Amino acid sequence: MSTTAVTVRVPAKVNVRLAVGAARPDGFHDLANVFLAVSLYDEITVTPADTLRITCSGPDADQVPLDATNLAARAAVRLAERHGVAPGVHIHIAKDIPVAGGMAGGSADGAGALLACDALWRTGASREELLEICAELGSDVPFSLVGGAALGTGRGERLTPLEVGGTFHWVFAVADGGLSTPAVYAEFDRLTAGADVPAPAASPALLDALRTGDAGALAGALANDLQPAALSLRPSLAGTLAAGTAAGALAGLVSGSGPTTAFLVKDEEAAHTVAGALLASGTCRTARPAMSPAPGATLLGR
Ligand code: C5P
Repeated sequence: MSTTAVTVRVPAKVNVRLAVGAARPDGFHDLANVFLAVSLYDEITVTPADTLRITCSGPDADQVPLDATNLAARAAVRLAERHGVAPGVHIHIAKDIPVAGGMAGGSADGAGALLACDALWRTGASREELLEICAELGSDVPFSLVGGAALGTGRGERLTPLEVGGTFHWVFAVADGGLSTPAVYAEFDRLTAGADVPAPAASPALLDALRTGDAGALAGALANDLQPAALSLRPSLAGTLAAGTAAGALAGLVSGSGPTTAFLVKDEEAAHTVAGALLASGTCRTARPAMSPAPGATLLGR
């Protein structure tokens, strides 16, 4: 029987440490980026079609580009080119990850479409080749494929897996509208102009907290060098951060380039309390409890 549909589930991420170095000659920044995959997922379903076509469903579907710029489309085209396959495929994205929120939703769709097309077309790409294509697509895409927890160096695409000794509970406060990642990095450059930006590094305390599964210790070690830039572009996020910590979160920070804010909480019960308080505060559009680590891109069936 020929394959008619393949579905892949891909997680969102939060950066528990995003250390940003000075701008490089190519415009990117060297990072020490500690990624943690979280249990908010997009599902990518691919089916054979005459031409490449993308559709998207979910509450924020209208904000997702359905043209060739979508990372899912770019992933399919890259894989097809490398293997001499016609990229005739219908890619459907069932979107649950906040759009342009700093949670790697676009990257997740790129990694998901790549894995799904590889299965649909039986191209049999090796893990190394898939990771190479992911790195070509974007700095966060390799992590979406791999999931779990990892340290990303270079521009974030060179991954070293990290051990996680327990389950961490989070609440993600989703803001109205997105923030452009290049704009946030440009604001980082503006805010640090003339300053001596140190080489990025992950702290031993943070890596220990992950290894031991100690939420209290992780709360003390969370840090995002892009946070001042995101707050500068979106000052209202300070109110969201204050509301989450006032509601009992162990700590809060901007997720990646924002504007989603992430709150680490003690347990599942605290997640529901903090999510309710964040919603009631009126400082965010929605508040989503989630857990980490979560697995990377996973084939669900065909
Ligand atoms: O790699 P990706 O396409 O996700 O990057 C989007 C933008 O974010 C880049 O064009 C760049 O402006 C910025 N960026 C950066 N340094 C990184 C990763 C991303 O400056 N390490």
